[in-house]
Amino acid sequence: MHFTRLPELKHDIVCLRALEMSDMDDWYDYLRLPVVFEHTSWNVQTASELAPNAWCAQELSASSPVRFAIALKSDNRLVGTAGFHTVSPVNQTAELAYDLTPEMWGNGIATAVCGELVTWAHTSANSIRVQATVLESNKRSARVLDRLGFSREGLLLSYREVRGAPGNFYMYSHVTTEPAV
Ligand SMILES: CC(C)(COP(=O)(O)OP(=O)(O)OC[C@H]1O[C@@H](n2cnc3c(N)ncnc32)[C@H](O)[C@@H]1OP(=O)(O)O)[C@@H](O)C(=O)NCCC(=O)NCCS
Repeated sequence: MHFTRLPELKHDIVCLRALEMSDMDDWYDYLRLPVVFEHTSWNVQTASELAPNAWCAQELSASSPVRFAIALKSDNRLVGTAGFHTVSPVNQTAELAYDLTPEMWGNGIATAVCGELVTWAHTSANSIRVQATVLESNKRSARVLDRLGFSREGLLLSYREVRGAPGNFYMYSHVTTEPAV
């Protein structure tokens, strides 16, 4: 994904920064918890499987995924991630993904981060359409998208494998009417 500026999150507790190799253990520490992965397609067995998500801006192509660390302002520790995969420069679309360690749930952090990333994608990363796919049982994630004004477009049957079985996912979109940069 190419972008003209980094996202600027205004928040008291967390900031957004590039996802680094040194974050992988903190990320894996909560991604392996059933309460975190049960309503997603995540199936990670080791922290090293997460390493391809680390990035630096100079190495990104127009179609590269980009996922940010959500880090505590107090000590820079990763407590979540959010960003875009399945980026299509031709169609000017990108798919949003996000997760938080359960200790941070219930504070509006995911809503604040995703809201900033949606604005950023529309205004600074060439995306007319931001989409998100949510396993039909994932109520917390659906509430994040509802709060941000996403439209639920329909249910995609057997859309993505969920740890060995096909899962039904809702398709959500947030489309800007402004011309993309
Ligand atoms: C999806 C996920 C990030 C949502 O986390 P969350 O804590 O529910 O979302 P937010 O950080 O936006 O917090 C919203 C909650 O905080 C409350 N809240 C408190 N202050 C708030 C504020 N200033 N603004 C918005 N919400 C606020 C809301 O009422 C809401 O509570 P509710 O759960 O009772 O509705 C989290 O459940 C998660 O990591 N799940 C596992 C991974 C996952 O499913 N990822 C998405 C895959 S599609």
